[in-house]
Amino acid sequence: MMHHFRYLNDELYCEDVPVQQICEKVGTPVFIYSRGTLERHFRIFEEPFSSLDHLVCYSMKACSNLAILRTFANLGSGIDIVSGGELFRALKAGVDASRIVYSGVGKKASEMDEALTSGILMFNVESEEELALLDQRATSLGRKAPIALRVNPDVDPLTHPYISTGLKNNKFGIDVERSLNLYRKAKEMTGIEVVGVDCHIGSQLTELSPFLEATDRLKNLIGTLRFEGLEVRYLDIGGGLGIPYDEEAPPLPSAYGEAIVGRVRDLDLKLILEPGRLLVGNAGILITRVLYQKQGSEKTFVIVDAAMNDLIRPSLYKAHHSVWKVYRNAADAPEGRVIADLVGPICESGDFLAQSRDMDAVRSGDLLALMSAGAYGFSMSSNYNSRPKAAEVLVDGGNYWIIRERETYEDLIRGEHIPPDIFQTS
Ligand code: LLP
Repeated sequence: MMHHFRYLNDELYCEDVPVQQICEKVGTPVFIYSRGTLERHFRIFEEPFSSLDHLVCYSMKACSNLAILRTFANLGSGIDIVSGGELFRALKAGVDASRIVYSGVGKKASEMDEALTSGILMFNVESEEELALLDQRATSLGRKAPIALRVNPDVDPLTHPYISTGLKNNKFGIDVERSLNLYRKAKEMTGIEVVGVDCHIGSQLTELSPFLEATDRLKNLIGTLRFEGLEVRYLDIGGGLGIPYDEEAPPLPSAYGEAIVGRVRDLDLKLILEPGRLLVGNAGILITRVLYQKQGSEKTFVIVDAAMNDLIRPSLYKAHHSVWKVYRNAADAPEGRVIADLVGPICESGDFLAQSRDMDAVRSGDLLALMSAGAYGFSMSSNYNSRPKAAEVLVDGGNYWIIRERETYEDLIRGEHIPPDIFQTS
């Protein structure tokens, strides 16, 4: 999909702001997001559903900064949450609770209470025990919890095993036959109101067919449920549409949308979608500075100031992120190309951002952009090796804002205490 990162006279810009200008002010590593791209992606994704009653609930685990949440909320987006912390963020960003759906296999009683008292749209329930607890919590709060069961339609999403979720051997969801029985039980529970059916089959899907197969299985289930007198108002088909990182060519959002709309048009319900990656992935980049170049006996290493704690996707999934130079073809740049591992300062061999990458030669001080880092970049970052988390910046035309300050050393030890017995010196 289109994004607003481009070269002007061989210098990388985000919208109308030179990337280097941000780095001078904010330092590196830094995540830079383009507001124009975020908004464009939201509109492109939502457009095909306009003829249908629908709600796009941005899956905020992909990138949960308040400014990003608010950007989507301003466009009418709801939010898909998976924890009490995400609920807190969404509400802080000004998202209306009535546009929040709550997914996840391990909701705690306290988190259920928070969501119940806020009045969220729907809980996507993933097990019988979870349903029983939710019934109990809602009853004790004098409320009814609106629920869908997350059904596992057993289709292969044809993606990386760590991010496939709709197969029978995954921890997610409830298989179709079991879900039918559980729906029957739910109907009798005083604290539960059945309102929908939910699924999410995986992430970074590059084919349409698994989505359509899953939707068809859910359609059948909805038919049965309605026949048994259950009211199904919402069909939530999750997220998962992939984006191009490298050579892959996922279906366009328009093709995805049209195919889904074709399948569900006659169902007379509100369609809920939970896209994450598609909205933010290509709207964000991670900028890092080259520290050193090191020639090993078999490999060349380019050592940069970002690491697996900032962007874990390459280490965890062998994910590909393109590397762009912030200045290309500079007159004084080193010539030629290099095949190198782009690695960070962390003390693990698994700390790499790219492996055996054929790229323009670089030298110490160069700025590099890891592209498509908007989704599951900052949100999966950690403080490993006591590295303060990177800053986040949002660009809007010719302006930019720091939407999260770089962490300080003091932030690193916030909340830590040395017990007096241990503190004493001998
Ligand atoms: N809904 C549910 C219930 C989910 O579990 C997820 C993602 C989504 C929606 C959004 O999926 P998306 O549209 O972003 O594909 N960390 C991995 C991806 C994990 C996805 C987890 N669930 C990565 O970096 O590729």
